[in-house]
Amino acid sequence: MIRDENIERAAEQVNAVLAGQLRAPHVKAFFHEPTFTATYVVSDDATRRAAIIDSVWDFDQPSGRTSFESADAIIAYVREQGLTIDWILETHAHADHLSAAPYLQEQLGGKLAIGREIVTVQGVFGKIFNEGTEFARDGSQFDRLLEDGETLMIGEIPLIALHVPGHTPADMAYLVGDAAFIGDTMFMPDYGSARADFPGGDARKLYRSVRRLMRLPDQTRVFLCHDYKAPNRDTFVWETTMLAERTANVHLHEDVSEDQFVEMRTQRDATLDMPRLILPSIQVNMRGGHLPPPEEDGHSYLKVPVNVL
Ligand SMILES: [Fe+2]
Repeated sequence: MIRDENIERAAEQVNAVLAGQLRAPHVKAFFHEPTFTATYVVSDDATRRAAIIDSVWDFDQPSGRTSFESADAIIAYVREQGLTIDWILETHAHADHLSAAPYLQEQLGGKLAIGREIVTVQGVFGKIFNEGTEFARDGSQFDRLLEDGETLMIGEIPLIALHVPGHTPADMAYLVGDAAFIGDTMFMPDYGSARADFPGGDARKLYRSVRRLMRLPDQTRVFLCHDYKAPNRDTFVWETTMLAERTANVHLHEDVSEDQFVEMRTQRDATLDMPRLILPSIQVNMRGGHLPPPEEDGHSYLKVPVNVL
């Protein structure tokens, strides 16, 4: 197998938790049913330091109105638990919900981070939305751009950032202790994988990213960005294990070859509608969760490019 120091170090970190040498983080999930998104607050029990991963800013498309109901539930939890937020993380620029990161940061503090390749996403979508020069494509809307293998601390528990492109060029997974937040790569074993047909997506890269994640130990706790329920399942589930993914993921279990996956994924993606909120989501999330700058009347407007996507 090819040497991959960062994933090997990540696997060692999980083993350290299993051996009792490193504390496991506490993970609290908040599921947002309108967009099927799981937001996580991951914390170190001993130091009460924490990170928030993939938050949701409620958006009602027909009226164009936003609200902070979901984010406020997270803020209430953080305060009640006496947690200090050090990091607000995005696994990628989501296409199905708006991020509440700026609001959470204003209320709770912490630094906003995303993968370095967000600059590629900003380049692609800056063109699609015909943004002017005021839209910076250098990731400067975020406090920190993470590279593969970079380590942050959640109190005394390390978080290793892993670049797992495919769904988008910028996707990251975050391994905190033994808990892997894998974003939009795999979903529950009975549901399969994320789509790879957005501008900049690549099914072949997604396959390789998932095979890389599967080098983490069987007992790794795996937390998903979404759950859509699967046929024959009537409850939402967003946590599984790497063993379950490796042996039973319907799209990506260990016997599926790269070509088989690419063929399946490409055919399936051709049948999928665009996510309901893709246009507002991308315009906000590529700006780190901010609306476009207000026009002369003081209001922000979101664009609908006609016949472009
Ligand atoms: Fe996504």
